[in-house]
Amino acid sequence: MIRPSRRQVLLAGLGLGASAALAACSGDASATRPAAAFPPPEPVPPLSGQSVMSARLTARPVTLDLGGRTVQTWAYGDAAPGPTLRANAGDLLRVTLDNQLPADTTVHWHGVRLGQQADGVPGLTQDPVRTGESFLYEFTAPDPGTYFFHPHVGTQLDRGLYAPLIIEDPAEPGDYDLEWVVVLDDWIDGTGTTPEEVLEQLVADGASGTGGMDHGAMAGMHHGSMSVGLGEAPWGADTGDVTYPHYLINGKLPSDPPVLQARAGQRVRLRIISAASDTIFAVALGGHRMTLTHTDGWPLTPVQTDALYIGMGERYDAVVALEPGVFPLVARPVGKSTGGQGLAVIRTGTGSVPAADVTLSELGGRVLAGSQLEPDDAVRLPAKRPDVTEALRLGGSMAPYLWTINGAAYGQNEPLRVAAGQRLRLNAVNMTMMPHPLHLHGHTFALPNGLRKDTLLMAPMESVSLDLDADNPGDWLVHCHNIYHAEAGMMIDLRYS
Ligand code: C2O
Ligand code: CU
Repeated sequence: MIRPSRRQVLLAGLGLGASAALAACSGDASATRPAAAFPPPEPVPPLSGQSVMSARLTARPVTLDLGGRTVQTWAYGDAAPGPTLRANAGDLLRVTLDNQLPADTTVHWHGVRLGQQADGVPGLTQDPVRTGESFLYEFTAPDPGTYFFHPHVGTQLDRGLYAPLIIEDPAEPGDYDLEWVVVLDDWIDGTGTTPEEVLEQLVADGASGTGGMDHGAMAGMHHGSMSVGLGEAPWGADTGDVTYPHYLINGKLPSDPPVLQARAGQRVRLRIISAASDTIFAVALGGHRMTLTHTDGWPLTPVQTDALYIGMGERYDAVVALEPGVFPLVARPVGKSTGGQGLAVIRTGTGSVPAADVTLSELGGRVLAGSQLEPDDAVRLPAKRPDVTEALRLGGSMAPYLWTINGAAYGQNEPLRVAAGQRLRLNAVNMTMMPHPLHLHGHTFALPNGLRKDTLLMAPMESVSLDLDADNPGDWLVHCHNIYHAEAGMMIDLRYS
């Protein structure tokens, strides 16, 4: 087979020894930092007139029925996705995490511009929450939008530990009759392996040089023939490292899909969240066009499309006017040849349930990607020259299994610097042949066209400048939201006070 290496690393001379690489792969952020004990978070009393939304989350081992297939996994409460949390923009959220897992954990409120003491990064913003302990997350959620939450420890996101967080805009009229939250996931936990074992295997294959070769048959590894050839534009031939046996929508397999009911003619707002760890999806609703209205919580100049791409950690809101009948909502994994697809069924009338492997013509045409969207003018950053510019070079390899930012794995790379009040420009360059969803904690960035996002799917070899205002002092992560890449080093700190 003419395929010299599965991943072409275009950044030569990372200057990293294998031992440093392996150390960086060995665990969560705290493994590469001096053990720092964080004081308990400062209590956050509500401001006068501020409403409080309180909730309790129990992270625990569970047995889940995915719809004909039962798995042992970890989840919040007794389902995956866990309970949807809702509040109004400006509310104070008080969420107690109860850790009943046999492992340390934390909760990260993905995309929320919160105070850093609630950001949930062990070793950076808090100590990990030990088995049997609890932790109170208190923060104001300033911006309306579609968010989710998940642990920031190891590869726990690739278990069932994720749930939606919806921040409503009391001022938004909302031109729709009802809304559905649609959570996409790639699933492997409890199918004979765990995400921790998958990562160990990737690291072991990388160390022995077998990583990325088209031989061997390690469970969970990606050897798909799909990765030979040009792949799917614009994401390239190699979109992920893990072969998943299943893809889920709202925790269910396509053999027993979730059914969303409404009346024909109703307008529905879809809040689509990707909780996937290593999979890009192309999403479409059969027989309908969607009007995209928001991404990562931020309003767009609305645009109609048949289909959209969603990377790990991204969110898209779309409004759809429902036709009469029964329609498949499909999440097709991009560049992965096994495991089928994600399916939900939308029912407004009579009709037969679509087959699990239904092919949508909507997915055969133009599929929109986040970077092609235009912002609503109201959310543009005020025009300003950047005060500071920093490079953000994404690099990596399969052998060794090592992913880097600015030439080194997390813990060995230099934190990005800015001062409070400055405009920072990140010149992000994907120097690899894989796509990476780049995620920033505690802020949103603006693309050159003004589009605001907190997670941007970057195509192979793509460059983009991302501007942000340093208005939330603290210690923050910037990282790839492919959880295996993040764990293998593709993270960097952004620190300022
Ligand atoms: Cu959803 Cu640091 O991530
Ligand atoms: Cu990545």
